[in-house]
Formats: sequence, structure tokens, C-alpha cells
Amino acid sequence: MAQNESVSVRILGIESSCDETAAAVVADGREILSTVVASQIDVHRKYGGVVPELASREHLRQIVPVVREALAQAGIRLQDVDAIGVTHGPGLVGALLVGITYGKTLAAALRKPLVPVNHLEGHVHAVFLEAHKAGRVPKLPAVCLIVSGGHTVLYEVTEGRAQPELAVPLVSETFQYRKIGQTRDDAAGEAYDKVAKLLGLGYPGGPILDRLAAAANGVPPPVKFGPTKTRGNPLDFSFSGLKTAVLYHVREHPEYAPEIQSREEALARGERKFEQLLPLCSPQTLALVCEFQNAVVRDLVGRTMAAAEELSVESVLVSGGVAANSQLRATFEERGKAKGLEVFFPSRALSTDNAAMIAAAAYFRFRAGEFADTSLNADPSLKLA
Ligand code: KG4
Ligand code: ZN
Repeated sequence: MAQNESVSVRILGIESSCDETAAAVVADGREILSTVVASQIDVHRKYGGVVPELASREHLRQIVPVVREALAQAGIRLQDVDAIGVTHGPGLVGALLVGITYGKTLAAALRKPLVPVNHLEGHVHAVFLEAHKAGRVPKLPAVCLIVSGGHTVLYEVTEGRAQPELAVPLVSETFQYRKIGQTRDDAAGEAYDKVAKLLGLGYPGGPILDRLAAAANGVPPPVKFGPTKTRGNPLDFSFSGLKTAVLYHVREHPEYAPEIQSREEALARGERKFEQLLPLCSPQTLALVCEFQNAVVRDLVGRTMAAAEELSVESVLVSGGVAANSQLRATFEERGKAKGLEVFFPSRALSTDNAAMIAAAAYFRFRAGEFADTSLNADPSLKLA
């Protein structure tokens, strides 16, 4: 391996921690040769959330074709892969086990190293993958917000310690992480999904609420949601109170009921597109959605920028499914400019769960010789820091 720096290291990444079965091939941790994602949204939609047993079963059905497709798109054979990177946590245990078992089997059959990857570290690398496409490298130290359906957490990311003891010196050391804030209850994406459900707007909630909020056109909100106060660590988040406030507001105002029912009927007919649901939303509902989103965005951006200032970092990284939110991106850009801080996001495709980010994170662990053997197990609550 890499005695000669010009020989690229190709890593097959496998991701199955939640409801996306994904495989990708990435060269040298930064060049995406292929990325394939099979989403299970259609399977879980009618339950309004991810059903763990169904997720495992779907991963089992999808894993082989998804890996094959990733190799085909990269134009390489399994034997050409230098290592297999696989997510071993955090996530749903049954879902994780599908990817881990397949990864172990491939690694053993090919006699290639198996590199365990923390899903959250994958999300950090998604930002670097995207920046690399534009020829940029986010400067460290950075503050990183990972915000998805399962996580809302803030890390300080710094350069890893130099490892001169390694036989092959690292091009770039693995990063070091320090957790500086996290949600005390729901993740932000979970709040989006729950609010969408109670308003009869389907699943997942983020993308539709994002677009409906933009359609509110300045109609005054029917209720105001103030800043969320958290005792203790000022960098901690809390979203369950906001979701409950939306619920109480809707319960106290019976005028919402008929339109919610008409949207639920539309969803039952399979009409869940923005264009189909928008005409079924009153201006009051659009304004309510907009106020909910304002509160979420204000909180995410406010605490992240406060952390960035407190730690005097060079850049801000934002990753995870909710990082796809248009208002969140615009607000971060604006606040970043005002503070002279560079803010980095992955593209929408790299924001949500994918395996390119897993292969990217695996590369640096591979270079550091962090391999797993056949005893590798799923760790549903694996921590990054
Ligand atoms: O990262 P991800 O694909 O999976 C998890 O690890 O959870 O994130 C999915 C979450 C869902 O809760 C979804 O509603 C939310 O990300 N999401 C969004 C948007 N797109 C997806 N939330 C707000 N605005 C969006 N545009
Ligand atoms: Zn994720």
C-alpha cells in the first residue's frame, strides 16, 4: 500500500445504520468514484417513521445489489478495492448488523482490511468531500453541527495528533472531536417529522415543511414561538417543547381540523407532493409552519455561531439530513459572512445518509491502521466524543 503516494487507495464504504442502504467507492478519502443510495422511505412512510424490523429486512434485500451497483459505477471489481469501510454505530442494531456482516464477509473473502466507521464521523467527512469538489479544505479548528432525524449535536473538530510512530506517515491525521452540545430530547429532524405528521403533511417532514415555509409570504404567524431556554450548558438544544407547542396550538384551534383531514385523505390517495399539498394549506397553516421553521433555524444557527465565537474557530461545518434545509443554509451563510467565518455544507445528496462519507472517514482510519477483525459488532449508541 501507499509507499508510492501516486497510487490511490480505493475504499468501498457500506452504510446501513438507519433507513438508507448505501454503498460507495471513494479514492484517497476525497474523490467520489461512485455513490449509490437505496432509500426505504416508501416502506416506512405509512408508519410515519422508521420501523426497525422493516429496516433490517429492507437492508438485507438491498445490500448486495447496492454494493454491486457502486462497484459498477466506479468501474472497478471487488478485488480492486483496498479496504472495506463499514458503519458500526450509532444506529439501529438490526440495521447496522446487516452492513457489518456483509462487510466482514467481503473483507474475509477478499483478504482486505475491514475499517469500522462511526456514522457521525462520516457526516463530518461529508462536508470535506463536498468542499474538495470545489477545491477547498475547511480550516480547523472548526465547530461542526450534525443535525438529522436521529442526531443534533455540536462538536469542536481539531487536527488529530501527529502519529510519527506509524510506518506510513499520514497525509492528514484523523480528526479529534470534543462534544460541546447536544439535544436533550428530540433531534431537529425528528421535530420536523412529528410536526409534519400532526399537520397531515406526510413523512419525512423536513423537505415538505421547508417548501411550505417558503410559501408563507410574510403572513403574520398565528402564534409566536420564543427562544428555547436550556438550563446548564447553553450549547445544548431542545426541540420537544417546540413540537408540543405546535401540537397544543393546533388542538386549541379547531379551524385546523378540516384541512388536516383533507390533507390526510390526499396522502391516503398517494398525493403527497408539494404541489398537491400546497393548495390544501390555509395561509394560517403556512404561517404556522414558517414560524416553526424560524424557531428551529434560529436555535440551530444561534447556538452553533455562539460556539464558533466562544472557541474562536476558523470555520463552521453543518451536516446531516436537516442541513439540506434552505432557510438553515441561507441563515448560516448570512451569519457566517457577518462574522467573517466560512460555513461549509455538503450538497443535499451528501447531507443525508450516504456511504461516500463512510468511505471517506474510513480512509484516514485505514491509513492509521485501525482495522477490525471478525469480532466487530454493532454499537447502537457509539459515541464520537
Ligand atoms: O441524515 P438523515 O438522512 O437520516 C438520519 O440520520 O436521521 O436525515 C433525515 C432527517 C429527517 O428527519 C428529515 O425530515 C430531515 O432530515 N430533512 C430535513 C430536510 N430534508 C431532510 N429537515 C429540514 N429541511 C429539509 N429540507
Ligand atoms: Zn445520519
